[in-house]
Amino acid sequence: MGETLVGDPVAGRFLSHGPAANGKLLVDGDRVAAWYLPLAEIGPADWLLLESLLIPAERARAARFHFERDRLVYIAAHALVRGLLSFCTGHPARDWRFAVEAHGKPELSVPAGAPRLRVNLSHTRGLAAAALTIDHDIGVDVEWLARTVETATLAMRVLSEAERRVLAAAPPAERVETFLTFWTLKEAYVKAIGKGLSQPLEAFSFDLDRLTIRFDDEAGDDAAHWRFDARRPSADHRMALAVRHPDPSRLDVDVGPAPLAYLRGLAV
Ligand SMILES: CC(C)(COP(=O)(O)OP(=O)(O)OC[C@H]1O[C@@H](n2cnc3c(N)ncnc32)[C@H](O)[C@@H]1OP(=O)(O)O)[C@@H](O)C(=O)NCCC(=O)NCCS
Repeated sequence: MGETLVGDPVAGRFLSHGPAANGKLLVDGDRVAAWYLPLAEIGPADWLLLESLLIPAERARAARFHFERDRLVYIAAHALVRGLLSFCTGHPARDWRFAVEAHGKPELSVPAGAPRLRVNLSHTRGLAAAALTIDHDIGVDVEWLARTVETATLAMRVLSEAERRVLAAAPPAERVETFLTFWTLKEAYVKAIGKGLSQPLEAFSFDLDRLTIRFDDEAGDDAAHWRFDARRPSADHRMALAVRHPDPSRLDVDVGPAPLAYLRGLAV
């Protein structure tokens, strides 16, 4: 903690000399880049390469997981966020350091005068995701669709009344996915504001058709400053992204599969 990015982050050059940047900025205050990585696509030989992108503290944490699948998805997610940072800035994957905020949100430590890069990551069974922008609050969440979800019970705890009505009207075969679409959006929002589950989830609602948010207490936050993305990054997963921006209509949001060949190349 407290360590900062190594290198020479001159503000004007910082984002433009990445390997894929080709002279243009890949991320700025009006751009969001997000990657998702299905673990099924990662070959046995890739795991050591991905793990080599992590810093020693992350490798030590990975080694402490009891279940192999938790270890692997942790490695994938942390390699992904470091790879995305390298892709967009050209700085080596292992140079980045994070500091943990009050409710547990890791924030990048960037040197004074450098653009304030903001990232968030999420992992679930079989999928990792990471999202990056500059300055603005950002959150990402992914969930595995085949998980056992007691939608009726959980809905009472985490959905608003309006959301519960939408869930009840969904065909039974679509109920888990509808619930997890609400859930990923809510998690992406609480992760963006950094409060995690200390924020009551039933105090705000999503409209799934328009991808907008509504707050019970409008003094608490301004719905007009939020942009959301919700999608199925694989047949088995839901993903949602939340970004706070003064004018969300200006935002260019680029969500796509992670280029595994690029991540492999970083490890050499
Ligand atoms: C931590 C929390 C913010 C997200 O947890 P989650 O959905 O289980 O986990 P995700 O994989 O999406 O996100 C975890 C990552 O978010 C980041 N994170 C941790 N605390 C955070 C916070 N307060 N705000 C934003 N991001 C946070 C970390 O990078 C963490 O990964 P790491 O521990 O490997 O570094 C919190 O909301 C939580 O505990 N959720 C519980 C989820 C739950 O009960 N699910 C049941 C759904 S049916």
